[in-house]
Amino acid sequence: MNTGIVDLRSDTVTRPTSAMRAAMAAAEVGDDVLGDDPTVIRLQERIAEIMGKPAAVFVPSGSMANQAAIRAHTEPGDEVIAHRDSHIIHYETGAPAALSGVMIRPLDGPAGLFDAADVDGAVRPNNAHSPWSKLLVVENTHNRGGGSVWKMDRIERVAERARAHGLKSHLDGARVWNACIATGHAPAEYARHFDTVSCCFSKGLGAPVGSAVCGSRETITRVHRFRKMFGGAMRQAGILAAAALHALEHHRERMADDHANARRLAEGVGGIRGLSIPLPVETNMVFFDVEPALGTAAAVCERLSARGVWALATAPQRVRCVCHLDVDRAMIDRAIGEIAGTAAPSPGRSLAHA
Ligand SMILES: Cc1ncc(COP(=O)(O)O)c(C=O)c1O
Repeated sequence: MNTGIVDLRSDTVTRPTSAMRAAMAAAEVGDDVLGDDPTVIRLQERIAEIMGKPAAVFVPSGSMANQAAIRAHTEPGDEVIAHRDSHIIHYETGAPAALSGVMIRPLDGPAGLFDAADVDGAVRPNNAHSPWSKLLVVENTHNRGGGSVWKMDRIERVAERARAHGLKSHLDGARVWNACIATGHAPAEYARHFDTVSCCFSKGLGAPVGSAVCGSRETITRVHRFRKMFGGAMRQAGILAAAALHALEHHRERMADDHANARRLAEGVGGIRGLSIPLPVETNMVFFDVEPALGTAAAVCERLSARGVWALATAPQRVRCVCHLDVDRAMIDRAIGEIAGTAAPSPGRSLAHA
């Protein structure tokens, strides 16, 4: 633990608990590239069951899960439809172009969400000039959308339009666990609308490493092949799969605490002069905007860091804080105090609305 540090940069920063480490140490392992690691096999069966899909494959990261799924669904020259603020566009190093040779058609919409008409409007005509529209990607919860949650009826509408146009569909469910806690839906209720779903064990669930892609046997056989091609096949991966299995059994329900902490943080920060909450707080993420008189978001994060609170600047005036397993209520209260101290006008600064 970083004693004294409140690390709100991401829910990926959590460290394995002692119970999780014990499960990892006790894991029975084999060689997963040769297909005989019993703990990986158990995890794949369990996550497929949770998602209501026939098959699953364990992969090292959420990015690899998305990229292997995109590669499995497309051919070079195809087009993928996704929200403009998607993780696959912003934070996966141009991998759809580099690894799959696909274009992305970005959609607009509030908080990372879009609607059926947007899908209809984005599908290309089938002619000799246009790329083939092949895949729809939905992100739930939506990271840059503020951890926003897709309502089930909206998912049903966009998935229905994707099917009607003959598109495949993929759910980037890195944080689908948070969506489930926020709405009460089971993961399979979201997953059933998509050909493939990816999910992460290493974010709110608190495992050190790992994600999965779930789907039909045929598609997962292709994802498995691309996992190998992208360098993501691992050997005694049962040690990691044991952490994921432990997280699935013990860390899902507790995410409600992270959501409550996020609401408390937003209330506290929203009351601080010069700061505002631009996006609804529906899950474990809190974004706040900084008035220019207080400096840039990066400068605010630097000052905060000196006070022992770590957060991330995601835009020139926007800061992201994420609540997770290693942050309790008292740490949130401390963070609110430090953020208030950081935002207090000093002699050189004056606030527009002061
Ligand atoms: C929505 C979403 N998808 C995918 C990923 C990628 O996960 P990883 O960092 O494990 O590659 C992230 C990471 O934060 C994410 O927020």
